[in-house]
Amino acid sequence: RELLERVGDFELEEHPIGGASIDAHGVALTDEVLEACRAADAVLLAAVGGPRWDTTDPDAPRPEQGLLGLRKGLGLFANLRPVRPSPALLDASPLKRELIEGTDLLVVRELTGGIYFGDRGLDGDTAHDTCVYSEGEVERIARVAFGLARRKVTSVDKANVLETSRLWRKTVERVAAAERTPIEHMLVDNAAMQLVSRPADFDVILTENMFGDILSDEAAMLTGSLGMLPSASLGDGPGPGLFEPVHGSAPDIAGKGTANPLAMFGSVAMMLRHGLAMETEAAALESALDRALEDGLRTPDLQGNATTEAATRAVLANL
Ligand code: IPM
Ligand code: MG
Repeated sequence: RELLERVGDFELEEHPIGGASIDAHGVALTDEVLEACRAADAVLLAAVGGPRWDTTDPDAPRPEQGLLGLRKGLGLFANLRPVRPSPALLDASPLKRELIEGTDLLVVRELTGGIYFGDRGLDGDTAHDTCVYSEGEVERIARVAFGLARRKVTSVDKANVLETSRLWRKTVERVAAAERTPIEHMLVDNAAMQLVSRPADFDVILTENMFGDILSDEAAMLTGSLGMLPSASLGDGPGPGLFEPVHGSAPDIAGKGTANPLAMFGSVAMMLRHGLAMETEAAALESALDRALEDGLRTPDLQGNATTEAATRAVLANL
């Protein structure tokens, strides 16, 4: 809030989602909250989940349903997760500096299809989840990836095993044929390996919902911490985008005041850029983040001892 107040004059509304909504209303997302989000210019989401609502009972509400309902309900099929290690943090990653230097990649994750939204069920001692993709769904996310690429698009799939991946590859090929940007295809297991052996080689990684979920957490470690990665989820209609850090609610440090707020601040920057057409402010905020890190700001996830409050001060001082 403080950051937003510094950047511009916004009308802010707060609504519960996830565990807070389950406690208040018995469901992770109410129709009223979905409608309020639809009526907004942008949605900034904190994080959902926590041990209190962890359950294996298929009939009990789960916090994650709120987030998935919001993504689906707002038609946000394109999830952008930029991985741009801050120069000051090149030694903060468990990977060697020489390996990370020059990394500036973008994961473009399909967000409203695949195994996350296919038919699922539990029947006695057997459970199933179904991965479904249509050509149309693949085509529209592929266009987003090409629109954002500078050097090449790496499309990640499991076409040696999955039928959805073969449809994915064929459709991406068709979209690529009309583009000047080069395309390469990579199997997901190989991509997981390449991400930590030559990350700087990637530009845009285009992939389906679950592969994108997994690879983006892996890619986050290139920046030193999962607490650094912002994201934007966009649709193709006039509705609002959703902006959220890639990390979860970090229940292990709840209430301690030590959470790294930089992924959230980075998500605010993405909201300013992609959701509110405020590029100047977005760039100013991003450079304030970089400068605060250059000044030595390190929260505990980056082996420092700055509190959330101190990190906020450090960023505001550089803005
Ligand atoms: C993410 C998260 C979510 C996902 C969870 C909370 C449902 O891990 O945004 O990456 O799997 O998409
Ligand atoms: Mg995830």
